[in-house]
Amino acid sequence: MNSKVIIHPSPRFQGCPRIPGDKSISHRGLILGALAKGKTEMIDILDSADVRSTAQCLQMLGIRITQSGNKTWIEGQGPSKMIQPLSLLDCGNSGTTMRLLMGVLAGQKITATLSGDDSLKKRPMKRVADPLSQMGAPIYLSQGEYAPITLTGRELQGIHYSLKIASAQIKSAILIAALSARGSTCLTGEISSRDHTERMLKEFGAHLDVSPTRIQIEGNQTLQATCIRVPGDPSTAAFWIAAASIIPGAEMELENISLNPTRLGFLRVLQRMGGNIQIETTSEYSEPVGKIRVAFSALHGVRILKNEIPTLIDEIPLLAIIATQATGFLEIEGANELRVKESDRLDAIAKNLRAMGTEIETRTEGFRIEGIQKLRGAKIESYQDHRIAMAFSIAALVAQGPTEILDADCVDISYPSFYSTLKKLTH
Ligand code: S3P
Repeated sequence: MNSKVIIHPSPRFQGCPRIPGDKSISHRGLILGALAKGKTEMIDILDSADVRSTAQCLQMLGIRITQSGNKTWIEGQGPSKMIQPLSLLDCGNSGTTMRLLMGVLAGQKITATLSGDDSLKKRPMKRVADPLSQMGAPIYLSQGEYAPITLTGRELQGIHYSLKIASAQIKSAILIAALSARGSTCLTGEISSRDHTERMLKEFGAHLDVSPTRIQIEGNQTLQATCIRVPGDPSTAAFWIAAASIIPGAEMELENISLNPTRLGFLRVLQRMGGNIQIETTSEYSEPVGKIRVAFSALHGVRILKNEIPTLIDEIPLLAIIATQATGFLEIEGANELRVKESDRLDAIAKNLRAMGTEIETRTEGFRIEGIQKLRGAKIESYQDHRIAMAFSIAALVAQGPTEILDADCVDISYPSFYSTLKKLTH
């Protein structure tokens, strides 16, 4: 990767862009579809590098996946029917692919090795391997922590497990493994992360009890194929919502966005900052879906609390940029998980904001930014992290002078048409 993109400041920002399918829901539809009996249909799945990683790994495990227009079909084989892959399963840059597939493979009768790109090979995996090993699956991690990971599926035993980290990827891996285990599995502790897996499992006919403090799922369950309509991704919509909030005169309407409450922390914080945002639910099946209207308004900083972090984890780079355009202080604590994303995002935010001439007070688990600060066009190091490249492209719109985004093609991970859409919205 050595592509670069130059972004010029824009006094204009307007339009109603179509937002591509939700990444989390797309991964889960493919995976649960592969484990179900029968042919699952997905409508409007996200077409991006991360989702392709999941599809390709499943194909190597013997799952037939076909596509025509905006429809994708997954021919599920039922529980424990996957075949031994002929080579290692390449998860690319995708943590969701790797961690959820660990949960899948733990219950299959095969041995498989999961690997990924240089970034993914640096991300912590013991957090998933620990509970799965307790369920009975032998898992070998490189240096006791990282990919490549070799798993040998076993007959699993349900567990009682208290989650220490609010991570949907860990929670989902355990829930997926629990489906094929003997006995029930009970999760407590930090379970308030995004709940797409819990909702979708019910769509596939699984029995589970979900309360704010506990998730209980029975073992030995066979999922039944279903139809999944993938709504627009709120984390993708967030880039345009951020831009419309900080560019004077901007307004925007976005339709068909997932309004799952576990994903809406960014919108709630922006409203608290004085943002002009209206949210309207238009349908409510397994996931609430609706419209978001946003227009420029004067913003002020707020304090973001630790318990809000899981609901806005992917939007923190954007909040840092918005903070430079808001009066007063924006403060974030308890965001240490950002250090182990596709890049160390706290570090990437601080270095790039400083390159743009901004002051930021960094902490081990967060930062504090005082606005309003003028941004200066600069050379931005994306660290090949899609959310850093896109967030700083939005910063570039309100900077003085042009900004150069390095390794800009990493946006293909979640939003391949990001730059073409940006062009349309600013012209
Ligand atoms: C995701 C969960 C989050 C998020 C990631 C997608 C998912 O990660 O940051 O982009 O689809 O489950 P964690 O579960 O590690 O917080």
